[in-house]
Amino acid sequence: MHIAVVGSGYVGLVAGACFADLGHEVILVDNDERKIAALRNGQVPIHERFLPELLQRHRGQKLQFSTDLHEAVRASQAIFIAVGTPPTDRGDADLSYVESVAREIAGAINGYKVVVEKSTVPVYTSEWVRRIILRNGADPESFDVASNPEFLREGTGVTDFLFPDRILVGCDNQRCAAVLREIYAPLTSGSYYQTTGAIPQPDRATIPPPIIVTSSKSAELIKHASNAFLAMKISFINAVASVCESVGADVSQVCHGVGTDARIGRRFLNPGIGYGGSCFPKDVMAFRAVARECGYDFRLLDEVVRINEDQRERFLRKVRSALWTLRGKNLGVLGLAFKGGTDDIRESPALLIVQSLLQEGCRITAYDPAAMERTQEVMSSGIKFANSAYEAAHGADALLILTEWEEFANLDLNRLRDELKYPIVIDGRNLYDPELMGGQGFTYYSVGRAASHPDGVPAALKSALKNGANKA
Ligand code: UGA
Repeated sequence: MHIAVVGSGYVGLVAGACFADLGHEVILVDNDERKIAALRNGQVPIHERFLPELLQRHRGQKLQFSTDLHEAVRASQAIFIAVGTPPTDRGDADLSYVESVAREIAGAINGYKVVVEKSTVPVYTSEWVRRIILRNGADPESFDVASNPEFLREGTGVTDFLFPDRILVGCDNQRCAAVLREIYAPLTSGSYYQTTGAIPQPDRATIPPPIIVTSSKSAELIKHASNAFLAMKISFINAVASVCESVGADVSQVCHGVGTDARIGRRFLNPGIGYGGSCFPKDVMAFRAVARECGYDFRLLDEVVRINEDQRERFLRKVRSALWTLRGKNLGVLGLAFKGGTDDIRESPALLIVQSLLQEGCRITAYDPAAMERTQEVMSSGIKFANSAYEAAHGADALLILTEWEEFANLDLNRLRDELKYPIVIDGRNLYDPELMGGQGFTYYSVGRAASHPDGVPAALKSALKNGANKA
């Protein structure tokens, strides 16, 4: 199938590369000439596992890069719109990029086309896209509009695309459903997984994945509802973690006990410093705005957002209560990205915490395996960057763990303790066992679990420290 993918952000780039790996002829279009030139030159603009391999494999062959949307539409049977839908000041999604792409598509239609929204968009967008294309002169029989939302997570986007839990296709007639079924046939028939060079299967993959065909409105809602539900799950466990801290229970045990109920599930039940990234914060607000516009006051979502913001504040209080005063303190920070496995710092809770600590007069030395360059672009003063976790810890009054990189869960604790001025670790991602950390000579604070202290700390000091942590 000849496919155009419009927009070379995370979703567009991953989708384009993966469609090529499924055997389709893909043109990836972006109006940013520099981006297209960089892609043509072999640069990989995002940190995404397996993406460099796929780009290398298909660049200039099954995957072409272009700034010419008109030509790409004419050459393709399906056009996937994967442009940005940033939030407006009111919290709803700005669909002006989607609209302008739809207008351009209208002027290029030269035979039956399926126009597919892949960006996360509010319900009714496919209807609007259809209207815009009609308004701009296209024959109603010459195109259909479908919704095919993506459930890829940054960092594991390629495997999420090729080994999805489900493929969701929102179509309002059989003709367009047939085109989308054909596009995904290498996955749904399982044939892709037999090919040599197929991307290796991750744990827990459902092979072949099911395809769910719904109306386009349902598909649009499924995407928003899924992200809002996952955000709610995280806020829920963060609220439970706060209760655990007050009563002296252990949130890890609670998560295990709750999550082993198959109806609830263990995944996305990890407490921390709150969710971030370019999707959950934006999508929860956008879904809230969509519901309001349709006459439903979805206040549950306000609470999800409030708990998420509060989680960062609680962490900051924990830092204060562990260190007393903050002005002039040297803090080592591990993690700047909004989660592990990515260089993305958009809406990163780690970065927001770093900013607050800088405002309070701390001196920060940070290390992140992938996100330091991007952080430098937005935050040049007040923060120093280290070349390793140990360098960030060197001479610090305390070490803060803010992103759940695997590398941070496997540090040499003896070396870490030797680097720190005081062996204090405040872990916003629960990467270590409190008992182990106490045994290794650390004062260790985490989320939803009691603080631990080095063996040999006098009982009175332990109890004072513990009370401090509980108040946080
Ligand atoms: C999210 C969804 O997981 C994808 O299914 C969806 O396709 C994507 O948004 C999107 O709409 O494009 P992503 O933003 O890449 O993917 O990141 P997640 O892995 O979902 O993590 C989001 C945030 O939640 C991170 O800050 C992470 O640290 C936090 N998180 C996640 C927790 O605090 N606890 C958890 O148990 C899981």
